[in-house]
Amino acid sequence: MKFSIITLFPNLINSYISESIIKRAIEKNSIDVEIIDLRNHTTLKHNQVDDYQLGGGKGMVLMPEPVVNAIESCKKENSLVVLTSPQGQTWNQNLARQYSLKYEHIILICGHYEGFDERILDYVDLELSIGDYVLTGGEIASIVILDSITRLLDGVIAKDSYINDSFENNLLDHPVYTKPINFRGKKAPEVLTSGHHANVEKYRQEGRLRNTFNKRPDLLEKSELNKLDLEFIEKLKKMKGDK
Ligand code: ADE
Repeated sequence: MKFSIITLFPNLINSYISESIIKRAIEKNSIDVEIIDLRNHTTLKHNQVDDYQLGGGKGMVLMPEPVVNAIESCKKENSLVVLTSPQGQTWNQNLARQYSLKYEHIILICGHYEGFDERILDYVDLELSIGDYVLTGGEIASIVILDSITRLLDGVIAKDSYINDSFENNLLDHPVYTKPINFRGKKAPEVLTSGHHANVEKYRQEGRLRNTFNKRPDLLEKSELNKLDLEFIEKLKKMKGDK
């Protein structure tokens, strides 16, 4: 999959993709990342890309010309053009999975300053937000979208690592432990060192259900639970009621 990221701050994007799993994904050709500097796409003096809001008001607004030029410099027939903005559809794991399967080329435009000229919307397929808060710019949002898609692509991380991720089937992940088995008197659950796979899996599924019940009960309504899961939830409800 290819990502083209249109930004005023190429170094910000570059530093993130030069480390860890994303760096390896690029080296293995699982993804290709093209960073497009918006300032290279203006024809105005001093590389100007923004101007005052018409009608008055504070803050600088991204002009349409450099943004549309930048889109046109990388857009292909199969490209999805995304503008990161707090006004967009909220990004989530389900969308990350769909995009990882569906698209070959995603263009991510990092919004900045007070906003962008409304006419830019005629050149984008959709706006995406990473949550109900306002960032100083869209770079972090673009990185979030790139990162969450990339880790789901074949060969980037072991399938076992994400198959039971938080939010898969609308459940949070179970608690995990590593060595030492006894840390300052707090022992890791014995079942995890028992070698009994079925019991370990039962413990983990109950851990997912307990975590979701305690931390994100809103998700439980959307998850598909079997009879054993539902019985365990009833037990958790009863224990909570007994307290
Ligand atoms: N730009 C500013 N805030 C944002 C948000 N919440 N999501 C995506 N892009 C943004």
